[in-house]
Amino acid sequence: MSNGNRGSLADKIEEIVSQTLKEIDRASALAELQSIEISCLGRKGHLTGILRTLGSLDPQERPWIGKLANQGKERIKERLRLRQVELEHKELRKELAKETIDITLPGRPVRRGVKNIITSVVEEITEIFVGLGYRVAEGPDVELDYYNFEALNMPPDHPARSLWDTLYVTDKVLLRTHTSPVQIRYMEEHEPPIYIIAPGKVYRRDYDISHAPMFHQIEGLAVDKNISMADLKGTLEAFTRAVFGPEARIRFRPSYFPFTEPSAEVDVSCVICGGKGCRVCSDSGWLEILGAGMVDSNLYKYVGYDPEEVSGFAFGMGVDRIAMLKYGISDIRLFFENDLRFLEQFR
Ligand code: FA5
Ligand code: MG
Repeated sequence: MSNGNRGSLADKIEEIVSQTLKEIDRASALAELQSIEISCLGRKGHLTGILRTLGSLDPQERPWIGKLANQGKERIKERLRLRQVELEHKELRKELAKETIDITLPGRPVRRGVKNIITSVVEEITEIFVGLGYRVAEGPDVELDYYNFEALNMPPDHPARSLWDTLYVTDKVLLRTHTSPVQIRYMEEHEPPIYIIAPGKVYRRDYDISHAPMFHQIEGLAVDKNISMADLKGTLEAFTRAVFGPEARIRFRPSYFPFTEPSAEVDVSCVICGGKGCRVCSDSGWLEILGAGMVDSNLYKYVGYDPEEVSGFAFGMGVDRIAMLKYGISDIRLFFENDLRFLEQFR
């Protein structure tokens, strides 16, 4: 082969290589890169075609032409590899940009629930008594007649049973009308000294502005040596001051419960009318929040305590009434009607 041929072959190789490198640099997608590779280095590619003809070259020319072609091939491969990495990054960035979340856009508001105000008041009262050293006890809502009445000193046909408008399930089973049965259940299982409170739901056939068929009580029971009425009064005064503040007016009124002797009821001045008298307080100016008294010694016989050894006091407060007074709510039924406009005020 002549020198002219040799020269033009080398030129052709240079031409193909520089052309291909330019194409690679201009390629803007991975697919494009692939077709460039095929058209140059593939089975029928330009450079492959030249490499195939090397065998027919003058043995003296072959090595350097071959070297030139192979070096060109390597440069192309190297450039392909670099450009491929670049384009992969570019495509990844494009992909990520599509998925970017604009955190400055306003979000869809999530409607958060609120604790029912009764739950908050139960928690607040519980904390006051836990602070005084009381433990929290519980009993069932569906209760035996025995615990709701009989062991509380009300045998069958005792007239005091009619103090509570009871919802019966069967002759012997009822929805508890108060939290007092927890007193008996707890004393059966524990020895004095006892200092407990028992929050829970109670049920009665009652329905008006200050009476709900389901409401909440917190029972309190303290049984120890030498507990007196003064301890009861001191405890309830500390409690009412903690809940209603020092200015609230409170009165103790003698009363009757079959399971306490003596008994009292505690009233708080009605905040709805300021004590002048309204529908909420039945024109009395006072709203009754709890019943209390010294544990009747008859109860100790039911639970196996020695009445000579121990004495105690008990109380049962109406949580819903306390919440009404605390927040100036004029109808107890608002708590349970699930009107969010009402409930959401108490965040
Ligand atoms: C009792 O239930 C007694 N077990 C309380 C007690 C416990 C006395 C321990 C002595 C020793 P009374 O029926 O009065 O008592 O209810 C207690 C409180 O629950 C009332 O003062 C009132 O605040 C509240 N209450 C009563 N009935 C309702 C009702 N239907 N809706 C809302 N609150 C009520
Ligand atoms: Mg009462």
